[in-house]
Amino acid sequence: MMESFDRFGLIMNDRIIRTPIALASMAGIVDADYVLARASHIGAAFIGGYSIDEKTMAAARAVAATGERKEFLYDDPVAELRTQMQKMKKSEVVVGLNLRGSSPDSYRAIAETLGDTVVYEIDAHCRQKPMVDAGCGEHYLHHQKELEAVVRTLKKAGCTVSVKMRAGVASDDRVLAKKLWNAGADILHIDMMDFGIAKLRQIRNSCPLMLIANNSIHSFDTMKEMFSHGADLVSLARRSDERTLAGLDAAITRYTDEQGWYNSPKQLCRGGDIRALTFCCMPVKDCPLIPTLKRIGVTKEEFLKMKMDAVQGTPLEAGQHTCFGSLVWCCKMSSPCMFRDMTIQQEGLTGKEYMRLKRELSDTIMSRVFHDVPHDDAG
Ligand SMILES: Cc1cc2nc3c(=O)[nH]c(=O)nc-3n(C[C@H](O)[C@H](O)[C@H](O)COP(=O)(O)O)c2cc1C
Ligand code: SF4
Ligand code: SF4
Repeated sequence: MMESFDRFGLIMNDRIIRTPIALASMAGIVDADYVLARASHIGAAFIGGYSIDEKTMAAARAVAATGERKEFLYDDPVAELRTQMQKMKKSEVVVGLNLRGSSPDSYRAIAETLGDTVVYEIDAHCRQKPMVDAGCGEHYLHHQKELEAVVRTLKKAGCTVSVKMRAGVASDDRVLAKKLWNAGADILHIDMMDFGIAKLRQIRNSCPLMLIANNSIHSFDTMKEMFSHGADLVSLARRSDERTLAGLDAAITRYTDEQGWYNSPKQLCRGGDIRALTFCCMPVKDCPLIPTLKRIGVTKEEFLKMKMDAVQGTPLEAGQHTCFGSLVWCCKMSSPCMFRDMTIQQEGLTGKEYMRLKRELSDTIMSRVFHDVPHDDAG
């Protein structure tokens, strides 16, 4: 697993994620057996959705009774979830439980009983009417205070919390992302619907949480688009067959072994997200950097100091012959430049190592930019 950590640098619920590909839940379908059959091609899996209280269990029965959709049906959610967790115990796949609960108390009871070895994913996604009427699924996106209360309750119980949601349902996903960050969520698992990368970038630019992008991500190109606009992982539900998963896993592993940073952002002026500040020039010209700095409330001087301080004593300090006198201001490896490449060579670095150092710089920039959790009313 250390090899995976060196490659992707991903940790969820204190465990290393082998590859940035997850299974997204499908009620009545994605359980431990489904995950184990695909375990060698994925890093994480959200099993479920499982209903965890009387109201949502009744809703699940109502949904299943229509015959249009499957559901996991049982009388005792704790016994069912224990069985599933037991089956996953020896697997390297990091497990999340996608749960439908109608109140914070339902989530608290289940978390206190089952413990913190799994991620708790709040299903704020389901659109089935009986489920929404029971007060869960998409209901939470229209009643965000209730959703925040569930997040806070699970955090209080010491859990890692993911929120599964659809983009474009809340009136402003950026505001919602900030609220969930403020409430203590660790992961946003977002069904991007048809919104595409602009929406993902907005969310990436609003919070420092782990982002899992979902919906119709079956090809390397789509996966890479998600990664280069802010996703930490991608997830699959309908097309989570072994062949598709194995292809994506092999492709991202190969790409990372060649390039060094599996989810490196595009340059800011090419539509990259805030992480792209790591590749930005000195703030001396009129370009997208200036409005970006304004938006995040960082002055040019602060930006200069932030980047210079972050690379002190590292090879990114070098670069006398580059445009701005240091690799700290240099472009992404995919932009050809002989001055940068010459410096990299002189420093005894490979292109891959340069990208890894840029990733570290990006992490530092992100932690500085998102250093204060916003207040409840932050927009
Ligand atoms: C049959 C079916 C059942 C689903 N059940 C759930 C669920 O219980 N909880 C949930 O959060 N999402 C559920 N989803 C949504 C998926 O996790 C995923 O967000 C959606 O299918 C889009 O991703 P995909 O294009 O990879 O399928 C379900 C989707 C399908 C098709
Ligand atoms: S600073 Fe350089 S890389 Fe960043 S947006 Fe401006 S021109 Fe592009
Ligand atoms: S030296 Fe090359 S890589 Fe560095 S900022 Fe200038 S053009 Fe970009």
